[in-house]
Order: sequence, then structure tokens, then C-alpha cells
Amino acid sequence: MTSKIVSRDVNLWYGEKQALKDICLEIPENKITALIGPSGCGKSTFIRCLNRMNDLVNNIRIEGQILYDNIDIYGKDVDVVELRKSIGMVFQKPNPFPMSIYDNVAYGPRIHGQRNIDKIVENSLKDAALWEEVSERLDQPALGLSGGQQQRLCIARTLAMKPDVILFDEPCSALDPISTGKIESLMEGLKDNYTQVIVTHNMQQAARISDCTAFFLLGELIEMGETKRIFEMPQEKSTEDYITGRVG
Ligand SMILES: Nc1ncnc2c1ncn2[C@@H]1O[C@H](COP(=O)(O)OP(=O)(O)OP(=O)(O)O)[C@@H](O)[C@H]1O
Ligand SMILES: [Mg+2]
Repeated sequence: MTSKIVSRDVNLWYGEKQALKDICLEIPENKITALIGPSGCGKSTFIRCLNRMNDLVNNIRIEGQILYDNIDIYGKDVDVVELRKSIGMVFQKPNPFPMSIYDNVAYGPRIHGQRNIDKIVENSLKDAALWEEVSERLDQPALGLSGGQQQRLCIARTLAMKPDVILFDEPCSALDPISTGKIESLMEGLKDNYTQVIVTHNMQQAARISDCTAFFLLGELIEMGETKRIFEMPQEKSTEDYITGRVG
């Protein structure tokens, strides 16, 4: 199994407060990796390190290395805009731009001077399992879509940038079970071509869709392994307590 991203001894502080402690893990290529753990354990902080989204936070200090295809993403020659194009992100709350459905998806490719925008928009919407619902109304406002449709639009917008890795931070927590099911099956469909990392509070979701699971607690990585193994035979008591719902 090839590792797409490797975290080596990552420590992170917000001011005086340490939020990540010696995180060492490997994210396998073209698999779905789930990050689980109780609120405040550092899941979002960690996932945001992977495409340097945390750079935007004041008073933050990061030590250690994150290697993406063996390149240190915190190295001085790294182009952060390119990095975030390769490692896209989908957030908890769908956040379409206040423009048409078409323009939401076309936005990034246009900025990057791509040609054949119509085709990129169509393919991205198809891959995000939204095309059939919106193909007749591409010029209408994205904010007129349902929450679940908006989230798939945000995924289409990410796909339009032709990323290599997609980070999802609780992408379904604002969605109903049907929309959640659609997002899960679209993630399944993306598996062969993308490395995906998902933060989720939903244990069934982690068990259903991920290949690997990493359990975080109080800023530490407690254990990581094949999802089936983590859920059926956790090595640590704290993992077992969390996945069986005794804490968190
Ligand atoms: N911008 C920030 N400034 C200061 N502290 C922060 C900041 N963002 C997060 N923290 C703190 O870092 C710790 C980890 O937060 P983080 O958001 O990564 O947790 P999480 O596991 O994603 O939680 P949740 O499941 O609630 O989303 C928490 O104690 C949080 O209060
Ligand atoms: Mg979070």
C-alpha cells in the first residue's frame, strides 16, 4: 500500500495550548481514511494541517513534517495555492458561492485559465452525482439548492480543480440520512481515483465507508489501522470505549 501523505511527529500549538502531540501516521493512496474521536481532540486541526489550511490561523505553531508524495509541504519552495488545488477540502457546512450552479463549479478552472469549461463543469457535476438533478438549471443560484445538493455542489467544485486528495471535515453532519447516503456512495465512486480523508462523528459512517481509521484523543493519535480491525479488535481500551459509545 502506497502512502500518499505521511505525518511525522507533528506537534501543533494554538498560542500556549498544544492541540496535536507527536502525530505520526500514513494516509494510504486511493483509500478512504476516517479520523474519529471526541469533540476537541484535534481532528479538524490535523486535517487542516494536510493542506496548510491552518496557515491562516493567528498565533499557531507547527513542528514536524507532513510529506505529500514525499515532499515536505511546509518546505520553503512549496506553492500553497497549488498545494490546495491538489489537496482539496470540503467543510461541514455547505458553502457554495452566491452565484449560479454553473459558476460555482467553473470558478476555480476559470481562475486557473482552463479551457473547455463546459466539459469540466459537466464532468465534475456527474462525478459528484448531482448532474441529473441540476443539468436543466445550471444558471440558477446555487443557494437555491437543498443542503445535500449544496454539499454535492461543493464536492463538484473541488473535483473541478482536478485534485489528488480530498479532505472532508464532517461533510454529512448537516445532512439528512438520504443526502448522507448520496455523499457516501459518491465517495465510494471516487475511491479509485482519489485519496480521501474524512472526519466523522458517525461511527457507522466510518465503519461503512472507510478502509482505515485513526482514533484521536486529547490531541494524540491513539491507534490507527484497518477499519475492520479498529472496530472489531481495538488494541486500546480508550478506542473501544469510544467506538462502543461509552465516552465522547
Ligand atoms: N483557531 C483556534 N484557536 C485556538 N484554539 C483552537 C483553534 N481551533 C481549535 N482550537 C482548539 O484546539 C483543540 C482541537 O480542536 P479541533 O477543532 O481540532 O477539534 P475537533 O476534534 O475537530 O473537534 P470537533 O469534533 O468538535 O469538531 C480544541 O481544544 C480547540 O478548542
Ligand atoms: Mg472539528
